[in-house]
Parts: sequence; C-alpha cells; structure tokens
Amino acid sequence: RIAGPCSVVIFGVTGDLARKKLLPAIYDLANRGLLPPSFGLTGFGRREWSNEYFANWVKEHVQRYCRTPFRESTWNQLAGGIRFVTGTFDDPEAFRRLSATVEELDRVRGTEGNHAFYLSVPPSAFPVVARQLAESGLSKSREGAWRRVIIEKPFGHDLESAEALGNTIASVFDQNSIFRIDHYLGKETVQNLMAMRFSNMLFEPLWNNHYVDHVQITMAEDIGIGSRAGYYDGIGAARDVIQNHLIQLMALTAMDEPVDFSARNVHYEKTKILSAVRLPEDLAASTSRGQYTAGWQGEEKVRGYLEEQGISPDSTTETYAAIKLWIDTRRWAGVPFYLRTGKRLGKRVTELAVVFKRAPHLPFDSSSTQELGANEIVFRIQPNEGITLRFGSKVPGSTMEVRDVNMDFSYGSSFTKSSPEAYERLILDVLLGEPPLFPTTEEVNLSWKILDPIEKFWASQGRPDPYTAGTWGPRSADDMMARDGRAWRLP
Ligand code: BG6
Repeated sequence: RIAGPCSVVIFGVTGDLARKKLLPAIYDLANRGLLPPSFGLTGFGRREWSNEYFANWVKEHVQRYCRTPFRESTWNQLAGGIRFVTGTFDDPEAFRRLSATVEELDRVRGTEGNHAFYLSVPPSAFPVVARQLAESGLSKSREGAWRRVIIEKPFGHDLESAEALGNTIASVFDQNSIFRIDHYLGKETVQNLMAMRFSNMLFEPLWNNHYVDHVQITMAEDIGIGSRAGYYDGIGAARDVIQNHLIQLMALTAMDEPVDFSARNVHYEKTKILSAVRLPEDLAASTSRGQYTAGWQGEEKVRGYLEEQGISPDSTTETYAAIKLWIDTRRWAGVPFYLRTGKRLGKRVTELAVVFKRAPHLPFDSSSTQELGANEIVFRIQPNEGITLRFGSKVPGSTMEVRDVNMDFSYGSSFTKSSPEAYERLILDVLLGEPPLFPTTEEVNLSWKILDPIEKFWASQGRPDPYTAGTWGPRSADDMMARDGRAWRLP
C-alpha cells in the first residue's frame, strides 16, 4: 500500500540515526513508489541551514546509505518538499516557524494537514518537544487529517520513568497516534517468525513444554560502543536491548496464535505472555552481566570499555547481559527462556534457538551417538537470514553412527526480492496508520516490570564481570547455563 499525502518532521535530524537510517529509508520508500507525490520532509535543528543546504546534506547521506539505486528523478521529486527549520527545543518562536512551514507544505505540496513528528532525540528532550508541539497547536489535527508522533527508545529508564514519559506523551497525543519504534519488529525475519509459526502445521504441535527443553535468544554484536558513550554509559546492555528487542522476540516466540494480525489481537497475545513472565528467585544464579576488556576482534586490537572515549574509568555499566526467565502458562511451564546480548562478542549475530528435549530412548550403542545433540530450530535473524533445522542423521558407512546435521533455509537463495530495511517498513506503517508492529504502552511497562528487579539486584552487586573483547562473554554466563546442565550455543 502507498502512503497518502503527508509530511514528516524529524527532530534530531543531524543525529546518527536520522543520517544513516531514517533519511535513507524515506528515500528508499519514495524510490519503491510507496510515498505519494504530495510528500514533505522537514528537518528541525540548531544549525543555521537554508532549505537548499539541508536538501543537499540529505542527498549526500541518502546517496551514501540508501539501499535501492540512487535515481535523480526520485530525488528531485522528494527534494521539492524538503524544508529546514532552525531552532532549539525550548524556543516557542521556532515552533511557530515550524508550524508555518508544515502549513506551507500543505499548500504547495498538498500534504493535507497530515503530519508525523519523529522524535529522534534523547528521552530527556521528549517532554519539552511534546509541550511545544501542544502549545504551538502542531499536535492538533484539523477535521479529517491526522497528527502522529514517533518515539525512539529508550522509553524510560525503569517502570516509573516509563510511566511518567508515557503520561507526558499521552497528554499531547492520543494513544492511537503514538508510535514507539522497536526496529527489531520491522525486520523481515522477525515477522517471519509469526509467518512460520502460524502458516504451517509442522511447528506448532511441538511448540510447548512437552517437546521444548529451553529457548535461547542471542543478540551478539562485534562492535563496541563507538561514539555512543553519552547514550550508553549508565544505560547498559539490558536496558539498551533486552528491555525492548529481546523481550519482544521472546513474546513473539511464546505467544499463542492471534485471531488475526490486527494490532489489537497481536498486542493481546503478546501482553498475555509478558504478564506471565516470572523471574527466578535466585538472581545471582540466573543472571550474568559483564564488561569488555581490551582484546582482539579478528585482526584488530580493540580497547576495553573503561578505556573508551567518554567512559569514566570506574563505570559499572554492563556491556553484556544474560538473564533466565520463566513463562507461567500451561504451554511454557518449566521451559526456561535464556536471553543474552553483548557488545564486542565473537561476531555479529542475532538468532533465536528453540532447543528440543532429547529423544526419550535411543536404540543405538552409546558410542554411535556421541556426536548427537538436541534437535534445534534456529531462526537466524541476522546476518545470513533464514532458518536452520538441526537433527541427527546416519553417517555414511557400514556402522550405524548418528551425528547432527543442519538443514538450511536461506532468504538469499529462496527469494530474489530484497527485503526492505526495518525502518522503511516501520515509517511506512506510521504513515499508513497501521500499528501492529509498534509496542504498546502496556507492553513497554510490562517489560520494565520484568527488568526492574534485575537492574536493582545488579546495582547492589558492584562491578560487572570482565570478559575479553572478541570472546563470548564472561565466565559467569557459562556458569549460569552449566548450573542448569545446559550450554550456550556457539552461533
Ligand atoms: C539498537 C541499540 O537498538 O540496536 C544498539 O541501541 C545496537 O546498541 C542496535 O547496536 C543493533 O541493531 P541491529 O539492527 O544492527 O541489530
């Protein structure tokens, strides 16, 4: 579906996210013919830029980061509706200019009063921007038009601040107009998790505690914190990605089949799971947090977290986090869900592995099944998107030796069509007013409710455990699995 006439205003347009993801995604949408000719794009920022200067600056970043081929014709069409408004968030005058600018776009581009405000800014700036949008009248739509707001995580720091933030935004925009971005939900493979589960007969009968031993969700990154010290320090791995991406992945893995894929029904099923999550009693034994020290990432020698620019040498922020959770439902009782994430790990990989129980009986000599592990279904979210099924097979030869083999489905070889970037999908959904892929306030609050006791426990524990950059995390994470008689997969 193609978006109707509208314009997008980006706050924080000179930031990393806007430059590398949002602006290229908007261009790619236009290039795929999914934006209407009546489209406007306004950047709001402190710099004294003219519309032309800003348009050239956008072009430069689009050319560098777009995923579809760069076409002058698409660009020229888009460029005609690009504007820049100079100002700071606390300046009412700047918001009046912004208001005049979007109205001008309504007239000359025909954007019909439909405006989306993208807050690509730190959460501390949400309240002031929200207030200015309200006071300048920008948040109010006229009859037949819409105003929507898009916010980026972190949605708070804990349950209390998330609720406060939710209330601030809700005092300006109604719930149906608030879109919280969790870019993982825009990833093709994450959506395929639902498609695979609910379009086939093969998986669902096994998807329960009769057959599943445990679930492992891994989001590993090889990068360090780069230039993001200001954002990352004090937040840490669990708040950065477990609270949102990994808990969402867990909910999609565990939820029952929704009646349909409407926002209401998908949220209903996810909320049931999030409400059923229980933390293990002994948090020391069932969580782990670490901080990377200097090491090697392939050929590159990299510094430790405490030596990174902008990080205080006594920071206790974790760059690795692993937690174990229970889901108290009939389907999942007794099946642990292990979630882990970290920076500067062995490689960049996000995957979700459903590990099955062992066959109750093996009619083979024990010597012939030494290399037989548990069956697994692994959703490879990135890179090399696809699904791997792991099971035992006979080794060719005269003896009955059984060993694990993999059967692979790979997006790249099964489909020639390239998948849109997560942000493309999500921005288009906002413009279409389709909310199923955006977490609700309730989901966000429930995720904080899960994480808060863990954060509180960690805060009482002193320093995170060190791990060398380029390895798979601290010893305590392996010990946590070993205590349960299990081990992390080595993706
Ligand atoms: C973001 C986190 O949400 O996801 C980053 O804030 C992380 O710390 C990023 O690097 C990873 O996203 P992706 O899509 O590259 O897996």
